[in-house]
Amino acid sequence: MNLVVVSNRVARGKAHEPMTGGLAAALLSVVENSGAIWVGSSGRVRDGAHKEPFAEIEALGAGALAMLDLPAAHYGGYYEGFANSALWPALHSRSDLIRTCQEDYFSYREVNAFMAKALLRFEKPGTAFWIQDYHFLALGAELRDLGVTQPIGFFLHTPWPERAVVGGVPHHRELVEAMLAYDLIGFQTQDDCDNFIGYLSADLGLNVSNGVVTSRYGTSRLQVFPIGIDPQKFAEQAAKAVSHPDVSRLRRSLNGEKLAIGVDRLDYSKGLVNRINAFDRMWTLRPSLARTASLLQIATPSRGAIEAYGNLQEELAKLVSEVNGRHGEVDWTPIRYLNKGYGQNVLAGLYRTAQVGVVTPLHDGMNLVAKEYVAAQHPADPGVLVLSKFAGAANELDTALLVNPHDIDGMAGAIATALSMPLTERRMRWEAMMEKLRAGTIQQWFADFVDALQESRLERAPDPSPMAPSLWPLRSVNSNLRYH
Ligand code: G6P
Repeated sequence: MNLVVVSNRVARGKAHEPMTGGLAAALLSVVENSGAIWVGSSGRVRDGAHKEPFAEIEALGAGALAMLDLPAAHYGGYYEGFANSALWPALHSRSDLIRTCQEDYFSYREVNAFMAKALLRFEKPGTAFWIQDYHFLALGAELRDLGVTQPIGFFLHTPWPERAVVGGVPHHRELVEAMLAYDLIGFQTQDDCDNFIGYLSADLGLNVSNGVVTSRYGTSRLQVFPIGIDPQKFAEQAAKAVSHPDVSRLRRSLNGEKLAIGVDRLDYSKGLVNRINAFDRMWTLRPSLARTASLLQIATPSRGAIEAYGNLQEELAKLVSEVNGRHGEVDWTPIRYLNKGYGQNVLAGLYRTAQVGVVTPLHDGMNLVAKEYVAAQHPADPGVLVLSKFAGAANELDTALLVNPHDIDGMAGAIATALSMPLTERRMRWEAMMEKLRAGTIQQWFADFVDALQESRLERAPDPSPMAPSLWPLRSVNSNLRYH
């Protein structure tokens, strides 16, 4: 089979280059080995790009990477607008942060349609398409409109929230209906899948039976595929990384003090403010922990042109400086706060240096930092993971110290517990987590999805009885929007 993987952000194959977000980092090695073609945005835009899609194509392992310049007129409305100021906040249950307009939605659909046209050049007999994430909810429907009959799968890397929250997204109905053009829709957790099914039954009146829903496109299978990492490769990288200059400098600077580490994109879903407040609280309630433990927080700037992200960056900088001012000493800085990204090879070494990994998002599809922190530990002396129960990873990593990120005192207590946990308990917890990581690798995830996609296409037959006319056509909402 000839596989075409599509995502907005793509990654090049260099371990020392910073990578933004778990999706690109996770896909890189599997795509490299599978021989698939990975298509995504080049990060550049082009005037009149819709007329002739321009793709820069380079080799990527056994396959290829194709980076497209997206249409200049629609990029902002698509990326900063509908994808990241309507869908992202809603998918993370932050409807209060939705800021969007009709033009954004129009641009989102234009870019989906543009991508569909661009993909035709990669279509051969036996091709299957695998679309990633919320940037391309309608891409499957666009491909079907262009006559593509091959298998098309979709995987959502973020959570799928409860139906009332989905209802806050403008054009939600049209978008979910468009998603039913996919043969297979994959989710990170059972809760996400159940929420989607809840929406289909309550809002669209569709019946989902044994994970299969029927629409005018035929059947779509809804299934859970928790994304993993390559724990062995990560462990090897971590062992090697201890000699990296950044990692040795960090170790030397610690003077015997313990280290907690947080590595996140600077995003409101990551719970960074609550996390800093928890450390503040811990040092206030247990002054004996001052000087003996500090936090290294790497917060990589992301989506900076969006107001909510700019505001968060300011709020965090202020908060960190207040906490450092309150607890710091002439020779001790409680929080080292860095606004830049690091390559996987350095991160692996930083994780291994830290006795505690803090991963405390308010909502997260999976969170691969949690898995990477665990894989990077020294088996004889592993660190402790403090993990939000609202990260998808908590389903598997249930021997981490699970916390509620809204409970600042509870988090402060858990971090203190982690810092003083005896070796036997640390090892028991860590070994149980490693077992889960070995059982659900990224290679397994990739293979399971591709197998299920092939099967679901075989099952799919167009529905002879058309759906209620009120649900169709897909593009009924705003008649003055032009999509093609
Ligand atoms: C999350 C999303 C990805 C996205 C990444 C980085 O992990 O699920 O689709 O690529 O964040 O965000 P960015 O907007 O910088 O690509």
